[in-house]
This record gives sequence, C-alpha cells and structure tokens, in this order.
Amino acid sequence: MTGSLIAEVERERPPLVAAPPLPFAVAFDPRDEELVLGKWRSILRSQRWSDGDHTREFEALWSEMTGLEAVAFNNWAGGALAVLDYIGVAGERVLSPSNTFLATPRSAMQSGAEVIFYDCNRADLCGAFDDFVAKAERHRPKAAWIVHVGGHIAFDVERIAAYCRETGIRLIEDCAHAHGAHWNGRRAGAFGEAGVYSFYPTKTISTGEGGMVVTRDPEMARHLRSFRDYGRGSGYRIASMNHRIDEFTAALGVVQTRRLADIVAWKNRYARDVLDPQHPNRVRLPEGMISGLYKYIVFDPIERSTGKVYEQPCHRLLKADCDLPNTDWVAKNHWCVPLYYPAEGAGRAGDTRK
Ligand SMILES: Cc1ncc(COP(=O)(O)O)c(C=O)c1O
Repeated sequence: MTGSLIAEVERERPPLVAAPPLPFAVAFDPRDEELVLGKWRSILRSQRWSDGDHTREFEALWSEMTGLEAVAFNNWAGGALAVLDYIGVAGERVLSPSNTFLATPRSAMQSGAEVIFYDCNRADLCGAFDDFVAKAERHRPKAAWIVHVGGHIAFDVERIAAYCRETGIRLIEDCAHAHGAHWNGRRAGAFGEAGVYSFYPTKTISTGEGGMVVTRDPEMARHLRSFRDYGRGSGYRIASMNHRIDEFTAALGVVQTRRLADIVAWKNRYARDVLDPQHPNRVRLPEGMISGLYKYIVFDPIERSTGKVYEQPCHRLLKADCDLPNTDWVAKNHWCVPLYYPAEGAGRAGDTRK
C-alpha cells in the first residue's frame, strides 16, 4: 500500500487512544490462526514438505510487492551469503555500516572479504553518503552493504546507489528491518542490486526463522536458487550448503505477507495518534517515505524504553581501528519506544479493526 493510500484508509478511523507502553508481541494477527493451521494440515497430509507450492507463493507475493525477483531462504544469513557469493567478494573489500547487527559485517567476513566500516547519519541512524564516498575512494571496495536501520529507508540510499552505479561498487541492502517500507513507491531492496529480508520473531512480520532476497537481476536469482540447495542446477559448480526454506515456514510466510499492509498501517496509525505527540525529538522521515516502523526511535532518554536498536556498534564489538563519531553518538543518544502490533487483535488499544 502506498503512503497516500495508507493515509486515506486511516483517515476514516477514529484515533487510537491507548496509553503506551505496548508489551512485546510477535506480530501475528489472531484472525490468521485458523488459516495457518489449515495450510499446515494440508502440508502434513501432502507428500511435499519442502520446495513446493507454498515456497513459490511466498516468493510470488514478495515479487509482486517489490516488483523484483524473490528467492526464499531459511534465514537472512543464507540469503546474504548467497548474494555475496554471486558478487564474488572473497579476497575483496566490502563496506559496511557499523551501526547494525553483527550479521551484516560478519556475512562479508564469512564470505572471505575484508570489512571496512563507514559512519552513519545522526538523523536516520543509517549509512552516511560522505563517509561512504571517503571510504570507497580510499579502500576501493568491490561491494557495500547499506542497512535500513529501524524500519525506514536509509535517507542517503539514492545518492549512495547512484555513486555505486557510477563506480561499479555492488550495493546490497540489508532489509532485515524494512518490511513494508517504501520511498516514493520504491520498496526497500529496489535501490541496490539486491535486498535481504529477515523473518526472525522480533521483525515486522515473522515466520520464526526465514529470509527473502529480492533482486532485479534474473541471473542473480538463478544463482541464489542454486546456492540455497548445495549448488543443484549449476552442475554443483556453486559450492554451497543447504539454505532451503520448508513448506510449513513458507505457508506461514504467505499468511504473514498478506497481513503486512495491515500491520504497517496499524503501526503508523499508533505512532501518529499516540506516540508522535509525546516524542517530538524523534527520527523524522523525508517526504514520500513510509516506514514499516520496526522500531520507533527517539533521541531523548525515556522511562520505559525497549533499549537501543544496537547497544554497541560493530566497529567497537570487533575492535576495528577506525573513528566513526556519528555511530558512537547514535549508540549513546537513541532509545526505542515499545511499538508492537497487538497480539490480542481487535478491541485492544482502542483499535477498531474488525
Ligand atoms: C540488521 C540485521 N541484519 C541481519 C539480521 C540477521 O537476520 P537472521 O537472524 O534472519 O539471520 C538481523 C537480525 O536478525 C538484523 O537486525
């Protein structure tokens, strides 16, 4: 759903009034329980527990939503390793922001690359164009990660993507937080060569474990399908292991993906009606951007915070020899206000959903 559509639908509804904080809940709508159980029952009775119609449908939904090819994995990590293998980063340098989960730089290290960290902006907590260019010119990386931290799109992604196209750097988006996010109609994952999503239980939608790669490059998509299955289909030329998703997980993914627009719309409505008036000093989005609101990030300490997106930046965790002042500033100066899709479903938090 585009931003203006969300706004149109939401304008019809009365404002939410519930007092924060919302308790943690895996984003799953109880209205979907029977649907999931029905799909699982049919899989149980089928002779197809992996690599079947639910995997295809899960991928088709992501393809339709992003306008890109979509390949499902058993988690983010499998998808990330597959993309890095396709690009061929072994023995090369890869840029990564430091304000991210360790998974981002570690995927490049596991793929045999040297990681160079670049700084973030204070306003969006995501990779900063100026330091990206400075590090790229100094270290000549083959590839780079950009991370959409917190569920909005990295504010500098367009400038960074344009620079990467000019200089031949292969840009990959870590979309682990960015389900449902878009900017002027473009989804996370559509700015670089590929975007990698996670369906871990804390995420905007979850399948327990799971991942999805989106890419506009059909040759990359073929490589990813082969990579996730020991190189099958490539005459085993692609040297990899098993990163397949099973049919039970994929079926849950189908249901969750169909619910994603509701979840994102509800979170945006709750943010606008309940949280925004209380938190003027927060991440503020540019025109035309809709966040999936994986996190609601503020720059003032608050009483009942869920903590930081990341307590310690990766360059500190890995004791990398570099100076990233904005990343250090962000680590000290942001907090997350609880914002979870209500597990109880309709009726809670002043919700009028049917
Ligand atoms: C930014 C980021 N990248 C990657 C991951 C890894 O995802 P997964 O646990 O599905 O491998 C996560 C969290 O789970 C994350 O927050």
